[in-house]
Amino acid sequence: MPLDPSSLLDIATTLALEAGDLLLHRPAHLTAAAKSTPTDAVTAMDRAAERLILDGLAQRRPGDTVVAEESGGVSGAGDVTWWVDPLDGTVNYLYGVPQWCVSIAVGVDGELVAGVVYDPAKHELYRAVRGGGATCNDAPLRCTQQADPAMALLATGFGYAATARAEQADVLRSVLPRVRDVRRMGSAALDLCAVAAGRVDAYYESGMHPWDWSAGVLIAREAGARVEGLQGRPPGSHTTLAANPALFAALHDLLVDAGAY
Ligand code: IPD
Repeated sequence: MPLDPSSLLDIATTLALEAGDLLLHRPAHLTAAAKSTPTDAVTAMDRAAERLILDGLAQRRPGDTVVAEESGGVSGAGDVTWWVDPLDGTVNYLYGVPQWCVSIAVGVDGELVAGVVYDPAKHELYRAVRGGGATCNDAPLRCTQQADPAMALLATGFGYAATARAEQADVLRSVLPRVRDVRRMGSAALDLCAVAAGRVDAYYESGMHPWDWSAGVLIAREAGARVEGLQGRPPGSHTTLAANPALFAALHDLLVDAGAY
């Protein structure tokens, strides 16, 4: 029987809400362990939220493939794949900045079919099903129509490794004088939702992982945005750009001129 993406969305929604509620109980003293670099942090709360989601998936969808940030890898081998970021915006969470979320996406045969991004601090639940539009708290989302890069508000993010950050700074140095302004808000998934919601005109970043971008990419696309890598690549670990379709080509060229790849 063909899989109903809405039933997969329901599972993602339930688990994102439960994980978000758990994360809202942030302890006063939160200690962080280092991952890829000393500033790339993981806390007991990231791990507890991921455990909750993985246990929920194991109960409801045993055998599916799961790619989860904190477990650092892939488990299972089914045609249905779940991309789980239990806490995107970990550094904000660590410092008590209310800009973090739970992100869960699901794909069938490699194609994204449903995505949920839950921002518990703002009580905002972003959701999308492929071909069914994107919503925030059930209200339809639409990206902006700003076509002029000089008037565009961009979001971006930076990696944790010093060499990657130096390259990102070089690109930013060239982009910043040519756009309205740039925001670095600290959660890739929420940045993509901001494109969907028209809170920024575009977002770009390099060095992301599939759990960072999968749900947000579907939500942004379903809100009308074009989301691709540069030079015709799909979204991935190289630079990924999400923008309204009227802006995409100009920003793409601006990024390439700036040395992004
Ligand atoms: C990070 C955030 C950040 C982005 C980084 C991501 P994490 O994820 O999304 O905004 O710039 O590239 O790694 O570490 O908070 O899960």
